[in-house]
Amino acid sequence: MHSFNELVTLFEDKLNNIMPFPERPNTLYEPCRYFMTIGGKRVRPVLALMANELFGELTEDAWRAAMGVELFHNFTLIHDDIMDKAPLRRGKTTVHERNGLTAGILCGDVMAIYAYDQLAHIKTSLPQVLHLFNKTSIEVCEGQQLDMDFETRNDVSIEEYIEMITLKTSVLLACSLKMGALLGGATDGNANKLYEFGKNLGIAFQLRDDYLDAFSTITGKQQGGDIKSNKKTYLLLKAQENANELQYQAINALLQRDDESKVPAMLSLFNNTGADEACKEAIAHYSQLAFECLEDAAVQSVRKKHLHDLASYLLTREA
Ligand code: IPE
Ligand code: IPE
Ligand code: MG
Ligand code: MG
Ligand code: MG
Repeated sequence: MHSFNELVTLFEDKLNNIMPFPERPNTLYEPCRYFMTIGGKRVRPVLALMANELFGELTEDAWRAAMGVELFHNFTLIHDDIMDKAPLRRGKTTVHERNGLTAGILCGDVMAIYAYDQLAHIKTSLPQVLHLFNKTSIEVCEGQQLDMDFETRNDVSIEEYIEMITLKTSVLLACSLKMGALLGGATDGNANKLYEFGKNLGIAFQLRDDYLDAFSTITGKQQGGDIKSNKKTYLLLKAQENANELQYQAINALLQRDDESKVPAMLSLFNNTGADEACKEAIAHYSQLAFECLEDAAVQSVRKKHLHDLASYLLTREA
């Protein structure tokens, strides 16, 4: 069985060997290669591989699923950066800023197709895996649309927020785990437990992403991007919920503004209303649910150690 770091190294080697993009047109494929090689934690492929290893030796099919899910994830990031008007990702210029909007759209499109091409090589349980992947891809689109719709709404509930992040983020983590498990010969029961583990882990992961977007300077992304876009994050919703009258008015006034000083002002309000602490508590809550699901999978505890370690890292990461 392999640790997170070991699987990342193995995955990077494979990716470099089989990087599926041809030479021409270079204007399409060079940005694809650029984006796939500027870093990224490789969380989703590693989840697929770890879930696969719970049930035996790593299989060729699991590698295809891992490659497919990472290509798909990178496609969603390129399009997400267009939608979020993000200048930076992984410490580097985003594709649409570097190569233009057309390249951003088409690189994303073609990467999604290359993702499916990887899945097409899977030899066992392909219909089941494909159905799961298609369902997940549709949900990601739904979640991304809700995320954008929420920018201009001021009545989003915490429940709606959790539904939105479940769709845009957590189902892909859940799907990665379930694909890996199914391709390792897991029972439906165990595969579903891992899916639920991934779903709760993914919610905590996106809560942490929102927290870091606001407070961290080392994410490799623009700090405060969510605040600038009026994203309805847990931090914002909790700040509104906890605010006194004056704070509530201040938050709403900031939501109308579009200048640089909006970010530090909103960060103070997140701190002063206790929204930052509430966000950390929510992360702990969903982490707890995730670990309970992992516990429930009928696999020897020692075999779950690397998944457990990866989940712990994701929920405490600083970048
Ligand atoms: C970023 O995902 C998008 C979210 C769902 C929060 P990651 O944080 O996994 O991005 P990379 O692949 O490591 O850059
Ligand atoms: C992105 O969520 C989720 C998907 C790409 C589907 P975010 O917009 O919060 O991700 P980052 O912060 O840009 O990585
Ligand atoms: Mg974004
Ligand atoms: Mg986004
Ligand atoms: Mg984010």
